[in-house]
Amino acid sequence: MVEGLTKAFGPQTIWRDVTLTLPPGEVSVLLGPSGTGKTVFLKSLIGLLKPETGRVMIDGVDMVNDPDRKVYEARKKFGLMFQDGALFGSMNLFDNIAFPLREHTRKKEPEIRRIVMERMEMVGLGGAERKLPGQISGGMRKRAGLARALVLDPKIILCDEPDSGLDPVRTAYLSQLLIDVNARIDATMLIVTHNIEIAATVPDNIGMLFRRDLVAFGPRELLLTSEEPVVAQFLHGNRHGPIGMSEEKDAATLAAEAEAEARDRTRKRGFEIPPQLRPTEGMPVRQAEQRHAARVDQLMPRLPYAAQQAILAHRNHPMGGGADGRS
Ligand SMILES: Nc1ncnc2c1ncn2[C@@H]1O[C@H](COP(=O)(O)OP(=O)(O)OP(=O)(O)O)[C@@H](O)[C@H]1O
Ligand SMILES: [Mg+2]
Repeated sequence: MVEGLTKAFGPQTIWRDVTLTLPPGEVSVLLGPSGTGKTVFLKSLIGLLKPETGRVMIDGVDMVNDPDRKVYEARKKFGLMFQDGALFGSMNLFDNIAFPLREHTRKKEPEIRRIVMERMEMVGLGGAERKLPGQISGGMRKRAGLARALVLDPKIILCDEPDSGLDPVRTAYLSQLLIDVNARIDATMLIVTHNIEIAATVPDNIGMLFRRDLVAFGPRELLLTSEEPVVAQFLHGNRHGPIGMSEEKDAATLAAEAEAEARDRTRKRGFEIPPQLRPTEGMPVRQAEQRHAARVDQLMPRLPYAAQQAILAHRNHPMGGGADGRS
């Protein structure tokens, strides 16, 4: 659905020739060092920023090149959760979450009320309707942002660093919430994050932006077992490797070192990667699970050995050998 996308601001190319299809209903994570244009990418998907070349096709509408009227219509299919929650400070949570419904639909107040209460319940904010954003914790604001992203029954949910500013426990709850939301509404989800734990346990697929390129996009096992220096360095939060403080540290000298380290790590760990989170007990089965498995079967022969082994290990021991991922 994204084809040959290139975005520049003046002389500065942000990324070029990005092509990928977000598998319908699956959860994908987009990684990349700060400043590589992840937020710019999300904004391009919804047509808020216009790349210079390429297309973003959403149900037949090109978010880059079609007229504003069509783009605006298609944008209603997206649910957005911004980096900072982006709640209106002077509105209570109920009005914040009701905002897209009042703005984009002609629904009557009783129905708006029903939808808002249901979504607030879903993200664990039942009873907090009258609170102002300034009166609640960062974690609650994140969940309010997610509830607001859900009110229009989006087919596609984009989350920009949903975990920023959260402690590890809240991040774990949020991870579970994202999987549960996916199980309930079967929406296509793209999550931008720097959090290695989320990347390792939430998505079906992982992609990574680095130095103006989408360096990889594929099943989680492909990236999590990758020996590609950039990917391995990022996923292990390592200081050694091509990603430097300046983001553009000389790659050639350090790449070999990082690659050796990644290989070493893979050898030590075998091909074990953490199991993916499963929906909370009582939630529907994720419909994406079956589709993802079928897609991965097709890709299998072309995947590296380590990725194949990791996939097979989880299929043979779906609970990841002890940890049942249902925390
Ligand atoms: N409207 C704009 N005009 C000019 N340059 C911009 C604009 N928006 C973003 N940029 C530039 O594009 C680059 C990518 O920014 P972006 O916010 O997408 O990075 P990011 O990957 O989301 O980073 P982070 O992980 O820190 O959120 C930055 O160099 C930024 O300065
Ligand atoms: Mg950003």
